[in-house]
Amino acid sequence: MTAATLEETGDKALADRPIALIGFMGVGKTSAGRNLAHALAYGFLDTDRLVEQAVGMSVARIFRTQGELEFRRQETLALREALSKPRRVVSTGGGLPLLEENRRALREGAAVVLLTAAPEVILQRVRPLKRRPLLAQAPDPLQRIKDMLQERMDIYREYDFALDTSELHPRKVAELILGWYRTQQGAQSHG
Ligand code: S3P
Repeated sequence: MTAATLEETGDKALADRPIALIGFMGVGKTSAGRNLAHALAYGFLDTDRLVEQAVGMSVARIFRTQGELEFRRQETLALREALSKPRRVVSTGGGLPLLEENRRALREGAAVVLLTAAPEVILQRVRPLKRRPLLAQAPDPLQRIKDMLQERMDIYREYDFALDTSELHPRKVAELILGWYRTQQGAQSHG
């Protein structure tokens, strides 16, 4: 296969792809992602921030005034832009893999790292809840988190590396992802 064909089929080695961090709200994608990008001297992008820039309002306000569907549409565009170049770490919104189109873009164009955490830890990390439109109105936020995790189990099935961050500092999370990523780079240069 020529290099161009490889690129077209999305068959690039993991180390040649941008790194995408996926997972539920509050698992530490943004803080670990920033640390990881810094350690690799890669660019850092966050799909929530890209959507906010494109629309000109906060995520919470987009949900309130334009609805979740419009947010999801913008999120797909943001992901496409974010994955268009290598040497990037991309933190993704927790609901981004809800769409098959996004799951495919991740599968074909990113080295996908899934972060997880216990529901109780997630609750501590997502406060203040008013910035989280899908949790803000819940009478019992912990139960809501558990229910959503259950509902979303299937959307987080596809990844290249996974890590439970419940008891880890973001710097440690970044260090562990970096260790894994270096082995991918090593495998590539030897294979
Ligand atoms: C969402 C997660 C949020 C943000 C929006 C919806 C979700 O991103 O995209 O509030 O559906 O889980 P974070 O995971 O970065 O908090």
